[in-house]
Amino acid sequence: METRTLILGAGAAGMMCAAHAGPGTLVVDHAKAPGEKIRISGGGRCNFTNLDIRFERFLGRNPHFHKSALSRYTQWDFIARVSEAGIAWHEKTLGQLFCDGSAKEIIAMLRADMERAGAQLWLSTEVKSVDHVDGRFVVTLLREGRQITCRAQNLVLATGGKSIPKMGATGLAYDIARQFGHEITETRPALVPLTFPGGRFKPLSGVATQARASCNDTSFDEALLFTHRGLSGPSILQISSYWREGDAVTLDLLPETDIAAILSEKRRSDGKKQIATELARHMPQRLVEHLAPDLGLVERLGNLSDARIAALSDALKAWAVTPGGSEGYRTAEVTLGGVATDAISSKTMESARRPGLYVIGEATDVTGWLGGYNFQWAWSSGWAAGQAI
Ligand code: FDA
Repeated sequence: METRTLILGAGAAGMMCAAHAGPGTLVVDHAKAPGEKIRISGGGRCNFTNLDIRFERFLGRNPHFHKSALSRYTQWDFIARVSEAGIAWHEKTLGQLFCDGSAKEIIAMLRADMERAGAQLWLSTEVKSVDHVDGRFVVTLLREGRQITCRAQNLVLATGGKSIPKMGATGLAYDIARQFGHEITETRPALVPLTFPGGRFKPLSGVATQARASCNDTSFDEALLFTHRGLSGPSILQISSYWREGDAVTLDLLPETDIAAILSEKRRSDGKKQIATELARHMPQRLVEHLAPDLGLVERLGNLSDARIAALSDALKAWAVTPGGSEGYRTAEVTLGGVATDAISSKTMESARRPGLYVIGEATDVTGWLGGYNFQWAWSSGWAAGQAI
């Protein structure tokens, strides 16, 4: 069969691209349903974009590559489309926008947009091989037990990254890009919980607190969650994108509090009180109890010297912990790294190595922060390719 454009992957980027690529578009996916990650994202409500999209909130070897698509198809464009589709939404925190109802509404909107554009969708379809012969991409597909050879002028790689293989994530986009001479930058799990050897935080499992997590000159001031295997919560997921094996993560457990000033004041006004009792007013009781033996928190405030106050403040505001690893692709929200952007046009997402080949979404070496940034990249890059095709 012949088609003008073949899009591999009916996820966020692939569907967005299909909605804008014009007639003669076929989207194939090996999953039974399109947009499965959209469906489960944001606890089923899809954090579909962020009000405060900023270029520096995206990682990649080329810190400028994503600017063009993100400035031409912005969060405001996607918000307008969502609103026009009658999908109610709200801001949760830090500019993060979620559906009031269900993430399925976003999928339905994209499917309707694809249909309106005349795009066809083939699900449960496997990609067996890709070739380029006589100016056409020749893709062998397996559908309902039948092998189909599809010839296309344009081939769009929209199969995402490697995170959550159980949901069908594969490295297909990387393999095809490599086949056509593209470099793949180092890929690693990102937006992922960090693990610690020896069940270090097991006794604190379930404790949540506000914390500033810092690593490699970057900090995130958000919730932190202790788990039986290590640390999680938004501040940890965020910092995981900047963490590398062997690095320590510094935790400020009292990011908004000048605990040294408070302890000095309380030493005078409430000297008989235990240090632990005062600390439990500012952080979870179980965390204080856990830290008490090491930090000598059962003493009275009146006994504290200036040096002890400084040391306590340091211990609570600059607690260096060294993760042994991360939970890996099993739970990572995204893949850091991907198809190197040096040989992709930032305007059209077209390959400089093989005209007619496009790479969009998470498959590219562009990774956003937690909070709607990765979907916005999928919408913007999908739109940019769709426009150009
Ligand atoms: P995506 O992964 O969406 O789509 C790829 C498609 O390709 C899939 O349909 C897959 O089945 C298909 N495919 C893969 N290999 C194939 C093969 N070999 N053959 C055929 N088809 C193949 N981001 C955000 O901004 N806000 C949020 O709330 C969340 N929440 C969230 C929760 C969870 C649990 C995860 C795992 C991820 C998020 N994300 C997120 C990240 C976001 O889901 C992700 O960045 C985008 O879905 C990327 O869109 P793509 O279209 O590039 O890939």
